[in-house]
Amino acid sequence: MDYDDESKEKDIELIRKDFPVTKKKIYMNCGSFAPMPLSTIKSITDFLVRCSEEGPDSNSVQEYITSLMKELRIIISQLINCEPEEIIFTQSTTEGLNYVASGIEWKKSDVIIARGGLHEHYANYFPWLNLSKKYGVKLEEIKINNQGFFDLDKIDKIAKKKNTKLITLSHVLYNNGAIMPVEEVGEIANRQNVLYSIDAAQSVGTINVDVKKMGCDFLAFPGFKWLCGPPGIGIFYCRKESAELLTPKYIGGESAIITEEKNLVYTDSPQKFQTGFRNYVGIAGLASSLKYIQRLGVKAIRKMNMKIANVITEELRTIPSISIFGPEDEKLRTSIVTFAIDSVSPKTTVSSLQEKGIIVAERDVVGGGKKKAVRASPHFFNAPNEASTFVENIKIIQNMLG
Ligand SMILES: Cc1ncc(COP(=O)(O)O)c(C=O)c1O
Repeated sequence: MDYDDESKEKDIELIRKDFPVTKKKIYMNCGSFAPMPLSTIKSITDFLVRCSEEGPDSNSVQEYITSLMKELRIIISQLINCEPEEIIFTQSTTEGLNYVASGIEWKKSDVIIARGGLHEHYANYFPWLNLSKKYGVKLEEIKINNQGFFDLDKIDKIAKKKNTKLITLSHVLYNNGAIMPVEEVGEIANRQNVLYSIDAAQSVGTINVDVKKMGCDFLAFPGFKWLCGPPGIGIFYCRKESAELLTPKYIGGESAIITEEKNLVYTDSPQKFQTGFRNYVGIAGLASSLKYIQRLGVKAIRKMNMKIANVITEELRTIPSISIFGPEDEKLRTSIVTFAIDSVSPKTTVSSLQEKGIIVAERDVVGGGKKKAVRASPHFFNAPNEASTFVENIKIIQNMLG
């Protein structure tokens, strides 16, 4: 395990060979969907070949699946600092967050604290808004500044109220890469005895994530963004003591047992939340991707990513009529760089870039389509010269279309 080892020199050329997309494109869209390394693709193929040769539901393959799940739980528990049994395999971040929203027995008088909703990813807004519409739970949307930060005292004040049940927060904002004060909020949640749920879709794999330091009850993330895993597999961390507070959305084999009197009794977490077969192909792939991430180390990844992001932001700042969103201080942001050319729409900018082989995304800065921007989300396989090429192309687009 070397998540914290940043001493090794990472050979970017070797890394780039593992990601064939680098031969053809400048891919800076990992905040949406990252490519998998070749070793992961091989692990997935090996898994499928093994299933086909030995039979997917044979003892040998089932033992292999059990060992893969055990291994993946151990690697993730090392990555986010929890116990392996606190890891639940889901499909996505959205599913994990919905385990919380649908699993708690809400009362009309309950209060949920969220950041100003239209600045949140819908995955971490709609489930809470839905509760307020459906059950009359009060959703307190904390006022934010234009970078997405908020007043901690305001949270403390609402958390103090006896009906406040849960605080929800994104670790990193999808729309501008800002790193939220998750530990400070965790301190408030724990002091005020309020549940704490974190959307970590944009943080795990790109910055350090430590659920103990955050003091959270729940945390959800996907395998296919910054961990470079396959789609259709996500992780839901559920603190052991908090698992009892959630009623699973689904029930069936594996998650419960039936007594002689035909009563249903839930099994212990994580099985309690994992009814039916899981995405074993995804599990095989994600285990392999995590080993890749583990070899590089998250601290080293962070350093590599910020090198790219800083070239982009510094060069963009020299161009007139470009607005950059998100914090200037690099300690307060990840490698997500969000910006807009004043005279060219983000949609046109993104499609013009794609025509030139540069893949980034258009995203809302303020939800509901109120304000949009171009989001570049480079990862460790991007080279510094790609960052400069990216900015050169922005200048060309601005000159041609602006
Ligand atoms: C902050 C945030 N939360 C949630 C999601 C949704 O993730 P998933 O597709 O894993 O449900 C995303 C996806 O972009 C995101 O950026």
